Amino acid sequence: MTRCVVVGSGAREHALAWGLRASCDVVVTPGNPGIAAMGIPCVSTSPTQLEADLFVIGPETPLVAGVADMLRGQGKVVFGPNADGAQLEGSKAYLKEFLSAAKVPTANFGTFHEEAAAIAYLRRQSAPYVIKTDGLAAGKGVLVTDSLAEAEADVRDKMSGESFGDAGKCVIIEEALRGEECSLLVVCDGQRAFPLVPAQDFKRVGDNDEGPNTGGMGAFAPLPRMSPDDVQRVMDDIIAPSLRELRRRHVNFRGVLYAGVMLTAQGPVLLEYNVRFGDPETQVLVPLLGEGLYDLLYRAATGDLHHAPVCANRAAVTVVLAAEGYPVSPRSGDVITGLNDQGQLLDALEGVTVFHSGTSRNEDGHFVTAGGRVVSVTAMADTLHGARALAYRAASRIEFAGQQFRTDIAQKYDSEAS
Ligand code: AMP
Ligand code: GLY
Repeated sequence: MTRCVVVGSGAREHALAWGLRASCDVVVTPGNPGIAAMGIPCVSTSPTQLEADLFVIGPETPLVAGVADMLRGQGKVVFGPNADGAQLEGSKAYLKEFLSAAKVPTANFGTFHEEAAAIAYLRRQSAPYVIKTDGLAAGKGVLVTDSLAEAEADVRDKMSGESFGDAGKCVIIEEALRGEECSLLVVCDGQRAFPLVPAQDFKRVGDNDEGPNTGGMGAFAPLPRMSPDDVQRVMDDIIAPSLRELRRRHVNFRGVLYAGVMLTAQGPVLLEYNVRFGDPETQVLVPLLGEGLYDLLYRAATGDLHHAPVCANRAAVTVVLAAEGYPVSPRSGDVITGLNDQGQLLDALEGVTVFHSGTSRNEDGHFVTAGGRVVSVTAMADTLHGARALAYRAASRIEFAGQQFRTDIAQKYDSEAS
């Protein structure tokens, strides 16, 4: 049987492993207790020591560190870009330089290595202010605020190395854009690229987009406010020039190019690229992709992608249950009720899957919290309305002390979708 290794330990990797196992034997390194509970082997061995027909790298950190280069150097087939392509996510300063060379629409910005210059620039801008760390910050390195005092304090914290270490020492100050946000994940084989259905994630910790940014508190797909014409416009105005620029730089990008796009009145504008599947978007996209997942990733990894992936004509919603204190200082060790020995709902609901990220098992074998985002509860149904209702019904059956979740994932779109 075909064998696939998935690298990573979050709910995204849980969803990938769950989706891939319909077509192959899957091993995850290092994986997590929720993946293992499903009967999917998790090993602590480095991927360089494993053999498989396909390696799928989930998170950005190993991609930026060159794990894909290392595996390709061993002759392995890998889904995920080399370190050169991963720079699009690894450094926002590099991204901005890349986008201007490629002539891709993006927010106006300044890049700063010195605090005094950053503060002076900030004072010349008008609210809202957008401050970003240059390096990787697990989705938490961006502040959007109307308060100049808060913006200045954030610049000082970041540049002193206090909040993000070296990743924060260079900051980007950006023009604030308004509009509908969408995540368009595009699968690339080095030459060709095809989009998955558009998704949206919810980055702020609280309802109505209040509170600090997180890794993502929920997601849904497809996005009713994004028409096929809108998708085509992103492909033409953003993705196509980026692929040309990658080729010009001799970057053979085989993996997901995830465009975080703001649909503004002037057209789509790129907020950021990620170089991997989104988390939590993957928890809704994988169920919609169904059994075509292995073929899609294998073809992209081997430079042989010739047609768009087929997605089910259904809708999916995922709701993240997060630990007390997330995103600042999540508490661990709270016992989770409502899950069976496989880590799924004790009272099963058809169309629902629980993807684990921050769980472990205590000495009695019970699942306990062990990270900020604890589980993603995904539901798939014929309509967005149905998927949303089902996801929240399922989420209400899982409990732990201090649990936080948003009650408004996909809410305002609920009535717009068929
Ligand atoms: P990023 O990591 O660049 O995607 O930023 C995280 C989040 O901050 C985005 O999903 C947006 O919600 C918000 N954001 C980033 N850049 C801007 C911008 N220029 N204008 C408005 N919101 C932004
Ligand atoms: N959903 C945001 C991210 O994966 O970075």
